[in-house]
Amino acid sequence: IKQNGLKEIDASTDVKSLNEIRVQLLGKKGPITQALRGISKLPVEERPVVGSFANTIRDELATAITTKQTELENAKLNAKLAEEKLDVTLPGNQVALGHPHVIQQIIDEIEDIFIGMGYQVLSGPEVEEDHYNFEMMNLPKDHPARDMQDTFYITKEILMRTHTSPMQARSLEKHDFSKGPLKMISPGVVFRRDTDDPTHSHQFHQVEGIMIDKHITMADLKGTLETMTHKLFGDKFKVRLRPSYFPFTEPSVEADITCMNCGGKGCDVCKGSGWIEVLGAGMVHPNVLKMAGVDPKEYGGFAFGVGPDRFAMLKYGVNDIRDFYLDDLRFLSQFD
Ligand code: PHE
Repeated sequence: IKQNGLKEIDASTDVKSLNEIRVQLLGKKGPITQALRGISKLPVEERPVVGSFANTIRDELATAITTKQTELENAKLNAKLAEEKLDVTLPGNQVALGHPHVIQQIIDEIEDIFIGMGYQVLSGPEVEEDHYNFEMMNLPKDHPARDMQDTFYITKEILMRTHTSPMQARSLEKHDFSKGPLKMISPGVVFRRDTDDPTHSHQFHQVEGIMIDKHITMADLKGTLETMTHKLFGDKFKVRLRPSYFPFTEPSVEADITCMNCGGKGCDVCKGSGWIEVLGAGMVHPNVLKMAGVDPKEYGGFAFGVGPDRFAMLKYGVNDIRDFYLDDLRFLSQFD
């Protein structure tokens, strides 16, 4: 029994068959259990001899099974480990990393500059009320200057904002002047019913800015715009203000900066003048302050709206604004 048993144990190749062998050899119906049961039928003096012999064989077989079982389990574990082995020195798969869109990069830079000057950054709704986009900006329903901004209407009272200026009114309404001046910029997308061409897009970006306190002058406006220009492009760039008209500022100006990428002379973007228009600005109209609940006799200041798309075209010599909106990665990934 012992020899056969050991042979069988040795030959078994998995834990399951080993278990079957265990039941066969050592189980209730196995030969050893049977032999031990039969002891009572033996003469008294033979019982201890046969009993201890049977016990020894049972123990030897049990030990052999346990040893074999450990062996089989180890072999299985090693096989599994070998199969799952990772070579951490193999080169990984290249993951394509994205990056902020070039316009967003410019907006981020503008935000940093103004945060550095103590401004807060707010964002406003792109789907805006006529009330904020026009009326609160001193453009009543019949105002001829509404035609300056070809508007996508959603309903009679709801529209796609044509500029970020409604954020002037929204921030003025909310601001608590007992806590200090209002200094805020608000970047975002705006929409106009323009036909797309190299210099027009029906969707583009603006960064609105407003600063309201006591004793703010146009010199503060010019200084602020100069600081922004110098930090964005470098100290050699000049800012020029030209008289203009907006219903929500009085006086109103358009600001040019000296053209880059063409040595200050002429190029496609600057149309030969050596200057390029980059923003509209002015001193906030008393009506705008009044409508937002601010007393124009006590408070006043400037506002401006800059075009980051223009800045990006200038900075990188891009001649077609539509390139920014066509999602062509060959173009966009240049600005990593
Ligand atoms: N909202 C104006 C535009 O879209 C720009 C502007 C902003 C002008 C603030 C003056 C003051 O053209």
